[in-house]
Amino acid sequence: MDGNGRWAKARGLDRVKGHIEGVESVRACIEAAVEKGIEYLSVYAFSEENWNRPQEEVLALMELMMQSMKNEFGTFLDNHVRFMVLGNRARLSEGLNRTIDEMMEATSRDYRSTLILFLSYSGKWDILQAMKKAQAQLSPEAFQAMDLPDFDRFLVTAGIPDPDLLIRTSGELRISNYLLWQTAYTEFYFTDILWPDFRKPQFFEALEEYARRDRRYGKVK
Ligand code: IPE
Ligand code: MG
Repeated sequence: MDGNGRWAKARGLDRVKGHIEGVESVRACIEAAVEKGIEYLSVYAFSEENWNRPQEEVLALMELMMQSMKNEFGTFLDNHVRFMVLGNRARLSEGLNRTIDEMMEATSRDYRSTLILFLSYSGKWDILQAMKKAQAQLSPEAFQAMDLPDFDRFLVTAGIPDPDLLIRTSGELRISNYLLWQTAYTEFYFTDILWPDFRKPQFFEALEEYARRDRRYGKVK
């Protein structure tokens, strides 16, 4: 989700207004995903690098995250959406962590789709923490014998399928330390549309483009 700041700037508004409008796009995309029967929708809400933004923006984003989660709680339950937060949870405030835990627990049963909020996440951090966890949990022999699927179990995305499609808005053409390991064979979709303008029709357009892709996984068809 990129372009909130530029969306606000273009209207002479504060950057935070762009983030607030961006939340509406998240809602629209969740709705669209539920409608299409998409089982997993992930949103990269805040990267480890985003901690280096001005403190007032970081605080405003954290506050907005907390408010939006609470606002959507009932909708998640009604729509059988499992809510998950993945990332470096140790850097989040106690209050935010508590809300996240409560919501994750309450939505963990009887779900049809999963919404994953990547918060304080970085792909390199994920690979490193997985490596440390594997080394701590496995015998030296098992660690040496570790295979690729074995390693997947130590990433924060353990048990979650790799993404089929990754959408990046606002015209930036990079991965910015998102799911580095997990996107090995993901289809990428870039659009110039700024995140606050990315709503249901734009989401459906991305899905249509995805449907036209030919996925060969390095093989010959
Ligand atoms: C994306 O919008 C939202 C977050 C990373 C939290 P930006 O805040 O990056 O918006 P631009 O890139 O400044 O337009
Ligand atoms: Mg940006």
